[in-house]
Amino acid sequence: MKIKEAAIFLNTTPKTLRFYEEKGLIYPRKDKSNQYRTYSHEDLYRISTILSLREIGMSIPAIKSLLDNPTLSDKQYLDIQRSALFEQWIEMRDMIETVDKMLLQDDMKDIEPIRQLTNHLKKLKEIRRSWTDRWNFDNQAANYDNNIKKDGHVFNIHDGYDQALAKVVDMVQISSGKTVIDIGIGTGNLGSRFLSVGARVIGVDQSTLMLQKCKEKYPQIETRKGHFLALPLLDQSADAIVSSYALHHLTDEDKLFALEEMLRVIKPGGQICIADLMFHDNYHRKKVISSYLRNGNKLAVESIEDEYFADKSRILAWLTERGLFVKAMQFNDILGLIYIKVN
Ligand SMILES: C[S@@+](CC[C@H](N)C(=O)[O-])C[C@H]1O[C@@H](n2cnc3c(N)ncnc32)[C@H](O)[C@@H]1O
Repeated sequence: MKIKEAAIFLNTTPKTLRFYEEKGLIYPRKDKSNQYRTYSHEDLYRISTILSLREIGMSIPAIKSLLDNPTLSDKQYLDIQRSALFEQWIEMRDMIETVDKMLLQDDMKDIEPIRQLTNHLKKLKEIRRSWTDRWNFDNQAANYDNNIKKDGHVFNIHDGYDQALAKVVDMVQISSGKTVIDIGIGTGNLGSRFLSVGARVIGVDQSTLMLQKCKEKYPQIETRKGHFLALPLLDQSADAIVSSYALHHLTDEDKLFALEEMLRVIKPGGQICIADLMFHDNYHRKKVISSYLRNGNKLAVESIEDEYFADKSRILAWLTERGLFVKAMQFNDILGLIYIKVN
């Protein structure tokens, strides 16, 4: 097809097609003698993908990096785009809420409350943007399950893993047809346990390859690319939210923002249950670290310091301040569970 025909066929303009070419998104064959372009079937398919991604708001550089990645499927592109849209939507909502609060101020000339509101907004934006996957979970996806050490080893963070996952299922009483969200689902080891009760399970993870692995293992699980701090879910859409071994990739301060985000998504009467690496409190953390040091277990101390094992007391205080019903337990020195029933 020549450029005019291609543009008509795709319901766009020749100018747009030339623009995409200029940006390195498409490479139609050009006649050497007159430079006329010919668009192949593959070109047309690629352009229609670009047009759809533009329609849903994706930037040209983002489209380019997606199209240049041959390992991603069309559905994975869309999943990434959905996650980006949710981030924008959540950010917009925060901005609107801030404006609403500013408008409630009696005196707009009183700078301090306005400054506090805008600082809070700025902080939220920074927190969402600054989180990076230092652990490269995409690289871990293929061997993640094999690397879960059941016993032995000088420092085994998975000591009690099965017991903790079973306890989450036991605590979260869920009936058939209800929606369970597993955040940081990884390869699906926790979320899959809710399939047998007939729940709709949605797995959220920031790692595309973890989600891919999860889908291979459990095709019934709906996977969504997303982040603890910007969940790709509408308000009050979950009957239960669970998470295992994932929240400790956020600092203690960011964990509270993640909980706030879970409270946005959970339905009234819903349940949240988190099994993760945590200490009772800072005193407990120091005591455990000292005991590892006394035993010469440097690996344990390095592992603890490389991540953000939670201070459970801080999370519990935050939750109870909000009047939520909370239960907590500890399986061993480093592994605990927090259960929340939302009013
Ligand atoms: C150690 S794995 C745990 C996987 C699984 N939940 C389990 O219990 O085996 C941590 C998972 O959390 C995900 N994760 C870490 N930080 C995250 C974040 N901020 N938002 C969403 N997922 C995150 C990682 O990509 C990874 O798949």
